[in-house]
Amino acid sequence: MTVTSGEDKIKWWKDAKFGMFIHWGLYAALGRGEWVMYELNIPVRDYERLAETFNPVRFNAKTWVGLAKAAGMKYIVITAKHHDGFAMFRSQAEPFNIADATPFGRDPLQELAEECREQGIVLCFYYSHVIDWHHPHAVHNKYNNVWDYDTDSKHFPTYWNGLAKPQIRELLTQYGPVGLLWFDTAGGLSKEDSEELVELVRSLQPDCLINSRVSHYPGMGDYQSKGDNEIPMYGEDSRAWETPMTLNQSWGFSTKDQVWKQPEAIIRKLVHIVSKGGNLLLNVGPDAGGLIPDLSAERLREVGAWLSVHGEAVYGAAASPFPYEMEWGSVTVKPGRVYLHLTSDDWRKELRLYGLKNKIKQAYVLSDASRTPLVTAQNYDAGMDHHTMAIRLPDEPANDCMTVIAVDIEGELSVDMRLSQQPSGHVKLEWANGRIDAEAKTVEWSFQIVAPGTFDLELVCFQKEGASWDEAFREGIEAASGNRRFTAQPKPDQVVKNSTACQHPYSEVHSHLGTIVFDRPGTCTLSLRSALIRPKSGFTEIWQADPVKLRAVKLIKRQ
Ligand code: GLC
Repeated sequence: MTVTSGEDKIKWWKDAKFGMFIHWGLYAALGRGEWVMYELNIPVRDYERLAETFNPVRFNAKTWVGLAKAAGMKYIVITAKHHDGFAMFRSQAEPFNIADATPFGRDPLQELAEECREQGIVLCFYYSHVIDWHHPHAVHNKYNNVWDYDTDSKHFPTYWNGLAKPQIRELLTQYGPVGLLWFDTAGGLSKEDSEELVELVRSLQPDCLINSRVSHYPGMGDYQSKGDNEIPMYGEDSRAWETPMTLNQSWGFSTKDQVWKQPEAIIRKLVHIVSKGGNLLLNVGPDAGGLIPDLSAERLREVGAWLSVHGEAVYGAAASPFPYEMEWGSVTVKPGRVYLHLTSDDWRKELRLYGLKNKIKQAYVLSDASRTPLVTAQNYDAGMDHHTMAIRLPDEPANDCMTVIAVDIEGELSVDMRLSQQPSGHVKLEWANGRIDAEAKTVEWSFQIVAPGTFDLELVCFQKEGASWDEAFREGIEAASGNRRFTAQPKPDQVVKNSTACQHPYSEVHSHLGTIVFDRPGTCTLSLRSALIRPKSGFTEIWQADPVKLRAVKLIKRQ
């Protein structure tokens, strides 16, 4: 992967799509995630003692970088310093670092930098710039070490000028070009301090990208970091974005957490993210010996095997032009070609797609080297101004997880951008695609009904583990279409297993709101009023996000 520079400096990253997040630090020795010091209120002195025996001699930069490569990842973001304040690199600014405070005595970032250069992977650093539980003067607006230090007597500039900035300088001067700096948890940092940090990075390495978590002020940095494990709706973000995601449910090494995502789920999520224009930063948590757990490595290799065949439809691909999720999978595009990523679960004989206006030249299974043409048909209904395309699919999926159909088109891609009922009869209306009035707490959609009928109205929400449903819907919800208007008290009727867009600590919950009739084809409208409706340009970190998030309304056509 070659890093782009100047005005185009984010291009390499946008094309890369898939990166490896590595949460590795002293906390690995305790095997219960990277927040262990805070959760157990471990005194600084005791925590420092962990360093005396930290000796990850099985760490091998070549193996780690090789694994990222085998997984089809293009960049690595490793925790140079996490919230525990322990630097995983040789630092003049603070002796509490892996090279000086442990028997290991090596600088793993140096070794990784060399190996990344060797294997063509872009190296990037995570740096916890505000939370630091080790330093007596670090101040966050919420998560501080209050068991060792008195927050009132803290002097933030001592930390900021004496540790954070010098270490960031070290990271940008000791390891050659750095692809991006991934800051985290900026709560309480002033706008001026955030801007100063951005300036510092720009002055040292102008091409180094910066994620939005550098500040709690919206729009800073070069791209948007979504909340942990958060996959946005279509059109929710107006700038480049990335979902940081766990492979199990933890970032740092954990002996207890064995809830692993399966390779199929990861592939689906990756493609889904790319189809919405984002990147996936997928995490591994190496142990205190320096090994990436086998269960992680196996999964990543399987994802890499799929990508080695289907990478053309992922790397450098643009988002789906259709402003809604497909029920059968996801869409990505490149000039002259549309990729339909079909999940193998409910394989069908024929795929129908609405809204593609271009004439099809040919369609074939991407993994089929001989490009055997698939039978296609196209139809245009002038009365409704409605395009339909049908592809006869092979009897069996070509891949156990996801089969990609490449559709070569004539001319420049042109699609019907209106929200539309799908060939299955259903309509999915995500709120980011509606007209939102944040003050009135309403959202309204216009959409095309192709096959009229009676529809069940289903509310789709993401509910955080432990969140109170009743609290979220205290005021009920109101739906209206034409003269039909009703209020409902949504109940958590159904929890969807294996949701592609939703994951721990949230789960996708559907509620039946009522039924509604659309009795003729054409443009229809629906509006919703709920206390959960938010302005669209939300700045989301996982702890700022609502415990119950309204996501969409689904109209399910009765047969
Ligand atoms: C949160 C957590 C942190 C983790 C990060 C990954 O900010 O505090 O432990 O590093 O998310 O996105």
